[in-house]
Amino acid sequence: MNISKTRLTFPAPFLLVTTVLVFASGFRADARDVQHLSRAQPGGMPGMPVITGITRGTNGFTVSWDGPSGDYQLFQKPGLTDSQWHAIGKSSSKVARSLTTPAVAEGSSVTLFRISGPSPQYAGSQSCQECHNPILSNVTHTGHFGAFTNALFVAQRGQTDVSCLPCHTVGYGLPTGFINASKTPQLANVQCESCHGPAALHAANPEDPVTRPRVDLSAAVCGGCHNGSVPARVAAFHPPRFEEWSVSPHQSVGDELKADFAGRYGSRYFIPTCGACHSGTVREALLEGTSLPTGHEAGAIGIACATCHDSHEQTVHNNVLNGMHTNRLTGFVITNSQLGKFYTNQMSSPLASLVDYHSTGSFATDYNPEINACAQCHNDRGASANALDAPPHRSSQYNMLNGTFREEDTGVTSNQPANHA
Ligand code: HEC
Ligand code: HEC
Ligand code: HEC
Ligand code: HEC
Ligand code: HEC
Ligand code: HEC
Ligand code: HEC
Repeated sequence: MNISKTRLTFPAPFLLVTTVLVFASGFRADARDVQHLSRAQPGGMPGMPVITGITRGTNGFTVSWDGPSGDYQLFQKPGLTDSQWHAIGKSSSKVARSLTTPAVAEGSSVTLFRISGPSPQYAGSQSCQECHNPILSNVTHTGHFGAFTNALFVAQRGQTDVSCLPCHTVGYGLPTGFINASKTPQLANVQCESCHGPAALHAANPEDPVTRPRVDLSAAVCGGCHNGSVPARVAAFHPPRFEEWSVSPHQSVGDELKADFAGRYGSRYFIPTCGACHSGTVREALLEGTSLPTGHEAGAIGIACATCHDSHEQTVHNNVLNGMHTNRLTGFVITNSQLGKFYTNQMSSPLASLVDYHSTGSFATDYNPEINACAQCHNDRGASANALDAPPHRSSQYNMLNGTFREEDTGVTSNQPANHA
């Protein structure tokens, strides 16, 4: 591939600009090192720069923003009447999407910020094939790749209804994004760039670290589409998954544990042990065999969508229960005669399994992908009902369900399993 030639075919990047007006009082400093998508944006990973937070500290303002990978430039204007925008700091790459401005002049009561960043350059998933074919050939068979073309969506007149397109296509409404089925067929359906952001510049020049697409476990990436804010006539197809998750204890790492991750014994003790069940980023690193995240990063993501749903898998678990499952979208019911059939919902662990499970040792020795998704974390960890000191706690829900963990004991060794099994 002639990289420089390919790159020249893109239009010169024009600036997309977001302007935010700030009144210079009462903000708190809250700088963060790694940026995850903090707010769900329609369509998934944003293709446009957006300012997500402005806080005031003793040394000035900390401005954070989000958007696709690429270089950004922050500008400031001290007052409404000033004619000039002043560039602040160096144009910064995708890693730190936040900057602290110099101290604000005494007596200034208002200040304006503007961020300019890369314009989206969408490519479509066939451009990824050359280098990411194993991922592509899996993802092609997930529900995501049929989001625009499947019969149900067509029957609901989704293909020509603009209110449906931001979540069922790539980059609808943005420059270089989806327009319609005949002009931009390569951008129909939910694809790689829905979760990773525009990636044409990366496909043309994968060596460039600045335009390398984002990889983010944050539930906000999924939440931009998996929410209940849809036209009423199609509400039945759109359960408010993100809203529900957002009010569950899975949505973040508990405050105490967050402090432990970032504290003195974080990397030696809390991250490798507690992180396996309490942190989405730690669990991902353990599963992938990559190095464990830092304290802050370990506390940044709870049990997110991607912790339970593997975006790159098509069929992950076997049916082991009878007639348990109806696929809501296709109506396909897995019945008795179809034991062992695969579900097609990208779960990262089997939903239904009767295999008992007690994780007693380290993740490396105990992890078993054949175990019920919830049981991966909600198991007794080898504690007995009588032991009140299972360090630091036991979560015997799965074993209770299976009947292998007794209800709390009165001292009589009746050995009654719970009835749930
Ligand atoms: C010409 C080869 C090539 C093409 C085409 C290509 N990539 Fe990549 N991609 C790479 C390389 C090389 C890396 C870096 C791998 C690494 O460092 O581990 C990468 C990394 C990535 C990453 C991970 C970034 C990270 O921080 O881990 C994502 C996501 C990605 N590519 C998405 C895409 C998408 C989406 C497309 C299609 C629009 C695409 N790539 C097209 C070569 C390519
Ligand atoms: C539904 C969202 C989603 C879609 C669609 C998706 N990804 Fe990903 N991708 C993720 C998430 C989440 C991660 C990080 C967790 C992981 O590795 O599974 C990731 C990780 C990656 C990585 C880095 C780590 C790895 O697993 O190699 C690459 C490269 C990548 N994706 C490329 C692609 C390409 C290419 C496509 C399209 C063929 C694609 N992704 C489609 C969500 C998605
Ligand atoms: C651009 C919007 C969009 C984004 C971003 C997105 N999804 Fe989806 N997702 C959809 C649509 C639309 C469907 C319905 C597809 C269909 O079956 O037609 C869907 C279906 C699914 C399904 C059912 C798939 C199947 O094979 O039956 C799962 C699971 C899922 N998404 C999980 C995720 C996760 C996890 C993420 C984030 C990592 C995510 N999605 C990001 C739009 C999105
Ligand atoms: C906010 C993003 C969003 C909007 C807007 C949206 N959808 Fe969806 N749609 C989704 C997601 C996400 C799913 C998967 C839901 C799930 O399985 O939980 C989905 C699923 C569906 C399904 C069932 C699965 C399938 O076959 O695709 C239909 C039908 C559907 N949408 C039609 C529509 C129509 C018609 C519109 C416009 C009137 C629309 N949607 C607007 C995100 C959206
Ligand atoms: C095998 C998985 C697993 C490991 C390892 C684990 N936990 Fe938990 N933890 C859970 C589950 C599941 C729950 C929620 C259910 C429950 O309370 O039984 C929980 C709940 C908690 C709670 C209560 C949450 C709250 O907000 O009240 C605290 C505190 C806690 N764990 C701390 C820790 C600490 C500290 C470690 C490491 C020393 C740790 N956990 C290791 C799975 C685990
Ligand atoms: C703790 C694990 C867990 C988390 C976290 C989680 N899910 Fe799920 N999800 C499940 C299970 C279990 C099912 C049921 C699968 C089934 O019925 O076969 C499911 C079902 C789904 C389905 C329907 C799949 C289908 O085939 O119909 C979608 C879509 C989905 N989840 C999206 C999400 C999104 C988006 C998030 C984050 C906001 C999320 N999930 C977070 C475990 C999880
Ligand atoms: C990756 C580990 C993990 C997985 C997988 C997991 N959980 Fe959890 N779950 C936790 C942790 C950790 C907590 C406690 C969070 C906190 O309070 O800080 C928790 C809390 C809960 C709670 C709240 C308990 C309470 O006392 O308020 C419920 C309910 C729950 N989980 C159900 C489920 C179900 C159902 C599944 C499977 C679909 C599941 N979990 C999968 C780790 C997990």
